[in-house]
Amino acid sequence: MMTKIKIHGPQKIDGVVQISGAKNAALPLLAAAILSDEGLTLKNVPPLQDVSTMLSLLTSFGATNHIKQESRYAMEVCIKTDSIDSFVAPYEIVKKMRASILALGPMLAKFAQCKVSLPGGCAIGARPIDIHLKGLEALGAKIRLENGYVHATVPSGLRGMDFTFPLVSVTGTENVLMAAVLAEGTTVLRNAAQEPEVVDLANCLNAMGAKISGQGTDTIVVKGVTQLKWTTYTVLPDRIEAGTYALAAGITRGCVDLVGGNFRELLPAFTKTAEQAGLVFEDTNDGTRVKFGGEIVPVNFETGPHPGYPTDLQAQMMAYLCLAKGESQIMENIWENRFMHATELLKMGADIQLGGSLAKVRGVKALSGATVQATDLRASFSLVLAGLAANGESVVDRAYHLERGYSRVKEKLAGCGVEIELMG
Ligand code: EPU
Repeated sequence: MMTKIKIHGPQKIDGVVQISGAKNAALPLLAAAILSDEGLTLKNVPPLQDVSTMLSLLTSFGATNHIKQESRYAMEVCIKTDSIDSFVAPYEIVKKMRASILALGPMLAKFAQCKVSLPGGCAIGARPIDIHLKGLEALGAKIRLENGYVHATVPSGLRGMDFTFPLVSVTGTENVLMAAVLAEGTTVLRNAAQEPEVVDLANCLNAMGAKISGQGTDTIVVKGVTQLKWTTYTVLPDRIEAGTYALAAGITRGCVDLVGGNFRELLPAFTKTAEQAGLVFEDTNDGTRVKFGGEIVPVNFETGPHPGYPTDLQAQMMAYLCLAKGESQIMENIWENRFMHATELLKMGADIQLGGSLAKVRGVKALSGATVQATDLRASFSLVLAGLAANGESVVDRAYHLERGYSRVKEKLAGCGVEIELMG
């Protein structure tokens, strides 16, 4: 396992990056395989730690899988689910990845029972699952919490209903959506998450035989069906990975060709903010080109559910704004504790003032290399970005977080003329 990344700055990004399939689309899609009578084949699955964790969860239920390398950056995963005979998501797996909770909805819909270890808190916030459970209960599940586990059963079938999410939850929407697909009758999900990853899941479920409409809006309508069939589906490209490399081009005053999707369309609020902050976006034949426009301009923004500015690109934008000409204000509205990268950026000479969910970032002329500690996945890359722009050597410690969600970082950066050293 990689634990440290060493970077000699400053370096400049100039080249092409193949964007992988989206982690946050692949994880619910893998869980959706449980709903199929036979299984599911997914293409463009990113080679990531979190994907391996989801596969080991499916294996622990009794599913089997076969992986074919499509390219350096993509896998074809074929999952057979007709041998599932265990219904427990154990603590050892759930503690590694909270998205394991995505198995609950499909397991209940298909097997009428499931026991999932409670995910607990994490670095970026409390991350409760109360909304997932409320939605599943409204469909007819009976749930009790005992000994750190969610014990869920479906005594007399899942039934369609009208449910309003008390707040927008991405995996909450995905979990209840997956259960509703096999429920009897029609389910209406209001205040649903509109993220492209939710749309990708709904589209895959429809390809498997589900009857879902309204995905991508705040109201999703599901007409229950009795069974889903095997299909082959290609995972959506990773807009968060794309936005991260866009900011790598920005902070190093370079240029990057993001290949694999139209990232201006997938990232409307990010593109608008990044354009105000000095980046230039252009459509290309196979993706989006992002260039540094000549000046890092301060900008104020707040994170929010899609189509708002994604919280998963907040840390990376903060690193970029550390070098702006003037003060930027960032409001983090999704996670209560997602500014931990800020204190690390201070070690590199940044000027950031934190107050609750507001960060004031006053631009400095230059950052200087330092040893810093990664606290979560997106924070790790923000520190790599700062290290690429800083003068001198930086070491990002606890860099293993990065491997959960960014595939082949060293190789992708090398393709843009940038060198980083991974240390065990
Ligand atoms: N919330 C509750 N109760 C719930 C569920 C959520 O109070 O039952 C709260 C959360 O505490 C948070 C807010 O609702 O304050 C929104 O959380 P959401 O449920 O939308 O987050 P999530 O589904 O757990 C996904 C991504 C995260 C991303 C968030 C927000 C996956 C696997 N994870 O998490 O991705 O930050 O949506 O967009 O899709 C990442 O990739 O680095 C990452 C953390």
